[in-house]
Amino acid sequence: MENVTGLRTVEWKNNKVIMIEQTKLPNELIFVEYDDFKQVANAIKTLIVRGAPAIGVSGAFGLALAALQSNATTKEELISDLKKAKQILFETRPTAVNLVWGLEKIMKVANAETTIDQIKKSVIDEAKQMAEDDIKINKKMGKNGSELFENNDTIMTHCNAGALATVAYGTALGVIRATKESGKNVKVIATETRPIQQGSRLTAFELKHDGFDVSLIPDTAVGYSMANGLVNKVVVGADRIVRTGHVFNKIGTYQVATMAKQHGIPFFVAAPLSTFDMKTNAEDVIIEMRKGSEVTGIGDKKTAPDGIGVINPAFDMTPPELITGIITEKGVAKPPYEESIKKLFEAN
Ligand code: MRU
Repeated sequence: MENVTGLRTVEWKNNKVIMIEQTKLPNELIFVEYDDFKQVANAIKTLIVRGAPAIGVSGAFGLALAALQSNATTKEELISDLKKAKQILFETRPTAVNLVWGLEKIMKVANAETTIDQIKKSVIDEAKQMAEDDIKINKKMGKNGSELFENNDTIMTHCNAGALATVAYGTALGVIRATKESGKNVKVIATETRPIQQGSRLTAFELKHDGFDVSLIPDTAVGYSMANGLVNKVVVGADRIVRTGHVFNKIGTYQVATMAKQHGIPFFVAAPLSTFDMKTNAEDVIIEMRKGSEVTGIGDKKTAPDGIGVINPAFDMTPPELITGIITEKGVAKPPYEESIKKLFEAN
């Protein structure tokens, strides 16, 4: 197992999936243990685990549990059980493409084996390998991205694209980690990320846990921070990047990118190749709409009148013209993205 300091978000141990229960953060750091794929599906749906790469690996672990749970006596029956489980896991969250990527990788391995025992062993091995690969990929991405940052930069990030959004280390926060590990001094500004506060609950927690100099701002202070010279660069993660370089990420990313453009601040996206969707057009990507109660209250506290109408999209799209570079494990794509993204895949 790859040795990493800091938090490990999701793990396979003794035929169980262990996860950090992220809805309890930052007040409690507790772990949950699942032996039923339906529990994993529920954990993805209710954001016990969240973040595109973490969801991808969790989906794969969920299918591995489904294989173990199956009483099938033939390969056909087992594949049919896995297909049903895949559908349940797939329906949990629509925007992050890593989920379908993880599920399809496991199905491919299952289909390639002959016996029930081989399938069960291979899908577990594959899911565990995906988790290990996620950390290695994040580290490579971090190293590639660290070259874009200078000593004494103050870097803004939105939502949580850290260890808590991956198996460990992180994508956007992985780049910040690698920059610090390369000997450069960096400060971080984390946006709160309403409505469910992945910035204050998770990024602020994770970076403080790992000894970073991090300040929290309300989402409404992005313009102030940029206009007053408090930020040099921005790096965020992504849930899906299409071949034209349109980036789908946590709601509010588009506002941060627009404000960065206004102030001439470089805006970077960090994501593994598993976050790219080369088939779907930007206008066809499904944006998850979430329940109104996330906006009409904070936690259990009501902050809006009863019966108010709410619009609560979980993600938005940042167009390529606002993006300075897309950092991946294979290098940094620069505009024009259609060409540079294609090249990254050709190098794969
Ligand atoms: O709704 P969430 O918390 O799953 O949204 C997460 C994000 O938007 C992250 O920025 C994205 O998944 C990249 S994580 C490395």
